[in-house]
Amino acid sequence: MNTSTNQTLSPSTQKGSDKQFFDDVMTGLQATPKYMQSKYFYDAAGDKLFQDIMNCEEYYPTDCELEIFSEQTEALANAILAGGDGFDLIELGAGDATKSSYLLQHLLDKKVDFNYLPIDISEHVIDYLNSTLPVTLPGLKITGLNGDYFEMLKKAAADSTRRKVVLFLGSNVGNMPVENAEEFCAELRSHLQVNDMALIGIDLKKNPKTILAAYNDKEGITKKFNLNLLERINRELYANFDVSQFDHYPTYDPETGSCKSYLVSLKDQTVNISGSEPVHFKMNEHIFMEISQKYTVEQTNEMAGAAGFKTDGHFYDKKRWFLDVIWIAE
Ligand code: AVI
Repeated sequence: MNTSTNQTLSPSTQKGSDKQFFDDVMTGLQATPKYMQSKYFYDAAGDKLFQDIMNCEEYYPTDCELEIFSEQTEALANAILAGGDGFDLIELGAGDATKSSYLLQHLLDKKVDFNYLPIDISEHVIDYLNSTLPVTLPGLKITGLNGDYFEMLKKAAADSTRRKVVLFLGSNVGNMPVENAEEFCAELRSHLQVNDMALIGIDLKKNPKTILAAYNDKEGITKKFNLNLLERINRELYANFDVSQFDHYPTYDPETGSCKSYLVSLKDQTVNISGSEPVHFKMNEHIFMEISQKYTVEQTNEMAGAAGFKTDGHFYDKKRWFLDVIWIAE
């Protein structure tokens, strides 16, 4: 982007992703109740804070899934290979591919014929994977695809007639309300052929205090992660949020399995976002920031069936807090 031009334009007159970000922020802040889209957490500062969350004591999902991938690699690989050799392994939201690397290394050791196609919305992530994985995993055939999950999945399907195995790890499916997750799974199925597979990472219901603590860490990293979105709006959309006047309020409802994060305004205040009407906050008014939905195993089986998949294999960590499940397209 040409920054000198950028400084002379308000976000409402900018093009492309900045304009989309501005529109989505304004739609959320003009709604009642106010909300944000959690996909916007992940700018460079948000990526770093999420790394810190994954390393913090209370945040268990990453450790649980890493345990599954590092200790049950062969069983996972065998479940995938039961569908036959010669396939495309497509990873949605690959990130740094730490977990999937165990599987990739094992498949390479076994001389399995597969291509790895990580898909990520971040160009930075795809450039990183395209340059580092061939070095750390010699012999890997990798084609990183930068863009929207389903657009890239369509492209991958158009470019190859091989069997598809789709990885969607990290409980990313939890960052959608249940109805949206059901729609997402149905759409995923619509891009696959019979006998294609999906391997989905899902965080399970467990002791409510364990879940709440994971989103309310003592060091306050999750709080910073939420507040960073307000700071991002300040940085990119020329706004003047005083982040010290918002508090982080995480909740977990064991009945619904919904873990939700809010920011709460600590006083009556007005925020100006360049090019828009001022946004007013009442004292104690909340902004809904994110959902991290937790499921029972039965619910995940139902979700698979409703989307047109049959459940094939369940892989749990030792505490049975997290599930990686294999679904086969019917
Ligand atoms: C990326 N996602 C699965 C994380 C989660 O657990 O919902 C994001 C996160 N938000 C706060 N902590 C972690």
